[in-house]
Amino acid sequence: MQSPFHIDTEDLPTNLSGNETFNAVVERVRSRRGFLKAGAGLTAAMFLAGPLKAFARQPDAAGVTGQRSGLLGFEAVPVSTSDTVIVAPGYTATPFAPWGTPLFADATNWKADGSDDAKAQLRQVGDNHDGMHFFAMNGRNDEGLLVINHEYTTVSKGVYAWLFGTDRNAPLTADRVDKAMNAHGVSVMHIARDASGKWAINTGSRYNRRLTASTPMQLTGPAAAHELLKTHDDPTGMHVLGTFNNCGNGWTPWNTYLACEENFNTYFGTTSGADTRNAAQKRYGLAPGSTDYGWEAFNDRFDYAKEPNEANRFGWIVEIDPFNPDAVPQKRTALGRFKHENAAFTLTASGRAVVYMGDDQRNDYLYKFVSDGVYTPDGDNSGLLDQGKLYVARFSDDANTDNFMGLGEWLLLDKENNPELAADTRFASQAEVLINTRLAADAVGATKMDRPEWVSVHPATGEVYVTLTNNDKRTETDSVNPRAQNIYGQIVRWRESGGDAAATAFEWDIFVLAGNPIKHADRSDLRSGSANITADNTFNSPDGLAFDQAGRLWIQTDGKYSNTGNYEGQGNNQMLCADPVSKEIRRFLTGPKECEVTGIAFTPDSRTMFVNIQHPGEDGNSNWPDGGSALPRSATVIITKDDGGVIGT
Ligand code: FEO
Ligand code: CA
Ligand code: CA
Ligand code: CA
Repeated sequence: MQSPFHIDTEDLPTNLSGNETFNAVVERVRSRRGFLKAGAGLTAAMFLAGPLKAFARQPDAAGVTGQRSGLLGFEAVPVSTSDTVIVAPGYTATPFAPWGTPLFADATNWKADGSDDAKAQLRQVGDNHDGMHFFAMNGRNDEGLLVINHEYTTVSKGVYAWLFGTDRNAPLTADRVDKAMNAHGVSVMHIARDASGKWAINTGSRYNRRLTASTPMQLTGPAAAHELLKTHDDPTGMHVLGTFNNCGNGWTPWNTYLACEENFNTYFGTTSGADTRNAAQKRYGLAPGSTDYGWEAFNDRFDYAKEPNEANRFGWIVEIDPFNPDAVPQKRTALGRFKHENAAFTLTASGRAVVYMGDDQRNDYLYKFVSDGVYTPDGDNSGLLDQGKLYVARFSDDANTDNFMGLGEWLLLDKENNPELAADTRFASQAEVLINTRLAADAVGATKMDRPEWVSVHPATGEVYVTLTNNDKRTETDSVNPRAQNIYGQIVRWRESGGDAAATAFEWDIFVLAGNPIKHADRSDLRSGSANITADNTFNSPDGLAFDQAGRLWIQTDGKYSNTGNYEGQGNNQMLCADPVSKEIRRFLTGPKECEVTGIAFTPDSRTMFVNIQHPGEDGNSNWPDGGSALPRSATVIITKDDGGVIGT
């Protein structure tokens, strides 16, 4: 029996015949979905006339028919519960630059008992590798700057999992807090490949850099210098120390790196015993009492009762110029403040910069920034992300849909030009809309999503994909978040009206509902996943997401690895690859125990791939990558094809 959520390709607006216009498709979808009745406020005039630009036709889903994708050339790997990285046959995966690796000529070697102090950590690669980008030197495939986020260091109630090795239960000290702060942030590593194919860090390079939770940074854009950003140490409201919880990332065509500040709230607590939190602080998740990290006991700026505005200086996207080691990183307030997952860059038809962004929280939102200025390939683009329009997504609410597609619109978060915000006295200015972006998005009625994680833009079609990792707290479903207690997650894609990223309307469909047909064999049960999920590619909690140049969609998971119950047969976290046209999904890599697989980068020729293994053994059961009884360490993995070919072919 065909699953009720089988995506009927006959219905898909992707199924365009050559002479069908976008407007015709819109009308077809609109009438079928009763979209106007849903009151989303779209008018036909909001859609641009003309055929979609270069969107691929949608044949029958190959995952359903068993037809194999020509785009995916590798043999799938089975699930794994082993403490190793396993990659498709004919490929090699080599660990690289694990936590503690010396980054500078004067750095000390990592001490295997975890006893390095704060000063040593400052000169070494940080912990919990996450988002990442390879900036080629002069277009080279064998030399460049690998920039890596160090999202956090694993800790629970003041006990750091491995940062201090087996001495983890000793009391926290000022130096320990400094070490933890130095394990955070970003590494810029000048790396090169020798004739034998081995990559190494050039520790003598001037480009090497560690950005930590203490590195001076600058707030820029419309909210900079606002009262809510001023502190005792910084009465200007413009100069911040550090960045942390840098999760996913982005990059720009002018060769800067975008580090995204995600769960910043977990670093702010209070030792005062008083709950001084205001509504905005609660909306952003600041919790009463002490934090797991314990920094607030050693540094007043992390105590929100003493320094209530310090937390407002985090939750931004930080632009970093890796080719200028002296450049002060810029926190771009025009892009809004929330739990930033990643930043997917593209250009509008007229050349303006667009950044798509997810706010990773249950029932939070999907955003888009469109710059006022135009990107100039040979010009100065350093201010481009400081002025523009910020939008939040509303998807058509069509709860009766049986094929998971619809329309949507981008709602403008602008104090002057959105009447709802103009009338809302909680926001005195656009700066306050940007500082409390979540509250503004609540006010305009954005669609509450199942934890938006990474966004990626198809390199040829401009179609945009987002991972919605899971949402076990969802009670009310809608067409784009169709499962209550959604434990598996989904990937949603959309096309901007007229194929222009500047558009304020879009059409969308669900690319895959992750699920487990091993545990939930009845394909009419939404938990079994959409038709392109099989017993062979089952996974949960898609998170990292990136297209390669050829349009292969790489999917990484940050999910449950119990391999039992609802997760039976899903094994360790993994990386898969999808064909966006046929929808086939094939498993490419499996990670070691208790890790997350995250971060995707390539050399320009797509023949070297970089992937991160984050927190192997977060529950204490891994010794990857060093083996034996070694402390587990987050690390990059460098993947090559043994015949030297393009990754994924
Ligand atoms: Fe740091 Fe939403 O993952
Ligand atoms: Ca993530
Ligand atoms: Ca995640
Ligand atoms: Ca993680």
